[in-house]
Amino acid sequence: MCGIVGVLGKHEVAPILVEALKRLEYRGYDSAGIATVNEGVLDRRRAVGKLVNLSDLLVHDPLPGKSGIGHTRWATHGVPSVENAHPHRAGSVAVVHNGIVENYRELRAELASHGFRFETETDTETVALMTEHHMKSGLDPVQAAFKTIDQLEGAFALAFLFDGEEDLIVAARKGSPLAIGHGDGEMYVGSDAIALAPLTDRVTYLEEGDRAIVTRNSLEIRDERGELANRDMRRINLDVSRTDKAGHKHYMAKEIAEQPVVVAEAIRSCLPAASDRICLPGEDLDFSKLDRLTMVACGTAFYACLTAKYWFERLAKMPVEVDIASEFRYREPPIPERSLALFVSQSGETADTLAALRYCEGKADKIVSVVNVPESSIARESDLALPIHAGVEIGVASTKAFTCQLAVLLMLALKAAADRGTLTDEELADHAAALRGLPSALNTALEQDNSIRVAAQRLSEARDVLFLGRGLMYPLAMEGALKLKEISYIHAEGYASGELKHGPIALIDKNMPVVVMAPRDVLFDKTVSNMQEVMARKGKVILVSDDEGIAEAQDGVWATIRMPYVHPSLTPILYAVPAQLLAYHTAVAKGTDVDQPRNLAKSVTVE
Ligand code: AGP
Repeated sequence: MCGIVGVLGKHEVAPILVEALKRLEYRGYDSAGIATVNEGVLDRRRAVGKLVNLSDLLVHDPLPGKSGIGHTRWATHGVPSVENAHPHRAGSVAVVHNGIVENYRELRAELASHGFRFETETDTETVALMTEHHMKSGLDPVQAAFKTIDQLEGAFALAFLFDGEEDLIVAARKGSPLAIGHGDGEMYVGSDAIALAPLTDRVTYLEEGDRAIVTRNSLEIRDERGELANRDMRRINLDVSRTDKAGHKHYMAKEIAEQPVVVAEAIRSCLPAASDRICLPGEDLDFSKLDRLTMVACGTAFYACLTAKYWFERLAKMPVEVDIASEFRYREPPIPERSLALFVSQSGETADTLAALRYCEGKADKIVSVVNVPESSIARESDLALPIHAGVEIGVASTKAFTCQLAVLLMLALKAAADRGTLTDEELADHAAALRGLPSALNTALEQDNSIRVAAQRLSEARDVLFLGRGLMYPLAMEGALKLKEISYIHAEGYASGELKHGPIALIDKNMPVVVMAPRDVLFDKTVSNMQEVMARKGKVILVSDDEGIAEAQDGVWATIRMPYVHPSLTPILYAVPAQLLAYHTAVAKGTDVDQPRNLAKSVTVE
């Protein structure tokens, strides 16, 4: 997704803007640019590709000024090009935008009728032109920007900069997050707190429909009715140290390696040291008053929900519906009484998931979210937001957030089981002990890195890969396939191994690697049968199992990846590590951009 920054500073802002944009690179982008006002004169520089290209341009063609805005663009309308890169400018106004203006064609027609011409294919240029049009009609910069904002439909976070205005940024949010940072005699604007972290930890998040008039010594926020709005300034406890690579080659490698530590933090957040009972932070959630659960998410978070479905049904005997947010929001499903609606999102800003949450408002008894950004839109619009404590996740491919999501969801299922009396104290104690032992098991899984890297060398030569799993391993098979395809660009599919004979087995030949996720659990024998059907057709099997499973089934397999034994309920969290490392090493072998894969964004804040 696009990234926005703005600085009203005491010093030259160009390098500060570029540094802030670097902290937003993880969101994915294809071009970048900045604009400044210097001695009253508005100017801009833009470049295609990575930020280093913009930095090089600024070396040869500096952009002075102590007021500025910047942008990393993830193309929605129009190809990646200098012309389509932000900031977009029209006369005396420059604007940067994250989101989609859905009615930009109508606005372009209106502007064309006033004689305006267009230089780009973008919706954002329309915003700049409309603001310029209103200024030419006699409105001042703030009035012109506000009037333009009133005309926009869709999702947007915007920052405006004006010729002749050294101490003014106008900002607005509707559907895409935007934060205002408070400095000492300086003020900042950013898509999230990560961008602002080196500048300040004092942040005000704009709410839906808010507009902000920012100067170095003032912040005026108005809601969409134009009324003055009071928004809290928060201290962001952003562990800046966790936004470097800590000696790893890629953020993804660092974040995979961090899992024992951050999963332990997630576990401690709901499982006190001296108890076997789950204790949720914030208000209590009594599952004895709830009859069913609806879970909604996207991508990896969706596979976390699919996994949690097995836990809630098996441990808490609770009926569960799970759906991807982009379908759920338009299905208009009935939400019966005594329903809990649960939304899982690493960023807390995924547009489809936020829309699904809003669909459930006034329908579900409780709206709960499981997020990695407690200040995010999804968290703030929930009755209860459960943090996953994964720390900042920079790699576009979600890894530590997934395992932390699973840990929190499992503990939520155990809370439900305790409230509904469906597990004995001994069973609850067993799960609590298993959770406490999980970080150590994750460390053991990480020690398999070398054998996984060897197996990945073979995967890197494949054109297609199949992941198979049963029960709790089925959602993980799909997550493993997603990890592989999104960073190595190898086509991969995750399938329930019992489904193989209903079609996918036609794909099996000597060129088809098949990754089989199979702990020695109650479904192991059935999965081994499926695995043998694959090998009978010369399929290449990589078996991921524990000592017992490998001893029983390793004959004829292409490779084995050995996992420690854990309580059967915890296998999806543990087996996520080999799935992540297989994808990581395959991508490294293929030389793809591991942290910022092509076409992908970390937070999909548009539909
Ligand atoms: C995961 O590796 C992907 N980057 C993507 O599927 C992601 O999980 C999805 O976009 C949901 O993001 P969220 O958790 O921030 O809502």
